[in-house]
Amino acid sequence: MRKIGIIGMGHVGATVAYTLFTHGIADELILIDKNEKKASAEYNDLHDTLARNNYYVDVKMQDWDGLKDAEIIVTSFGDIDASVKTGDRFGEFNLNAANAKEVGEKIKKTGFKGIIINISNPCDAVSQILQETTGLKKNRVFGTGTFLDTARMQRIVGEKLGQDPKNVEGFVLGEHGSSQFTAWSTVRVNNKIASQLFSEEDQDKISAQSNKNSFKVAFGKGYTSYAIATCAVRLVQAVFSDARLFAPVSTYDPEFKTYIGYPAIIGRDGIEELIQLKLTDEEHTKLTESANKIKEHLASLKK
Ligand code: LAC
Repeated sequence: MRKIGIIGMGHVGATVAYTLFTHGIADELILIDKNEKKASAEYNDLHDTLARNNYYVDVKMQDWDGLKDAEIIVTSFGDIDASVKTGDRFGEFNLNAANAKEVGEKIKKTGFKGIIINISNPCDAVSQILQETTGLKKNRVFGTGTFLDTARMQRIVGEKLGQDPKNVEGFVLGEHGSSQFTAWSTVRVNNKIASQLFSEEDQDKISAQSNKNSFKVAFGKGYTSYAIATCAVRLVQAVFSDARLFAPVSTYDPEFKTYIGYPAIIGRDGIEELIQLKLTDEEHTKLTESANKIKEHLASLKK
């Protein structure tokens, strides 16, 4: 049985649940939210689809004990208003550091042994707190991280070149936040390398655009949901089907000793392998600076 828990039933959690539901990706879903009314409303709205949905899904709500034998937990708690107000996902840090500790301890109590896919922001820092609090192995806790920012970069590059974004290879690395950057040395479009595609000036503009685009969406509709939910669902599928998907996610990087967006192979055990990139010196410096930002915030919690 493909059993998944979703903790945090805001716009993102609800869209993840709906997508899993309508694509027949889960057999059992447990929906959890601090706000009883919201959890119950989402639970009922999804339940009402059962007579028309192509798949049967066993849905439960607020069932923490039921998480014990879930294979995956998706965490999507938080309050995007705090990020929108400050224009930086670390605006949610204090709130979500506390949430992550509370949720992590509750997950631990259930005896859950599966995989956590974290969406909550700031994604890298929250993923790390969840790993530390649950005591799950580092490969079994990862975040959506720059999987989403990479998709945004692929879209921008695809649009500029009149190509399907899927033809765009390469990675946005670092924090799922303002210090992220496109690692142009990894970018290929139809076998052309970045210097054959864009001037350095355009490369810098595109790199900044991925993060800006998220705030354009968040300022416009108050939150983001479809792109992040699609990324999370893709990662859920990769775990269930042991796809060994090559994707940049928020994962523990032993070089920097922190969670950060870096490419890995995703399969049944979560992070199966980290793929070492040959970055330029400049890219390595950017990645180090991004890691330092995440680490400084995490260290401030311990003071
Ligand atoms: C975004 C939020 C999920 O980038 O951080 O859409």
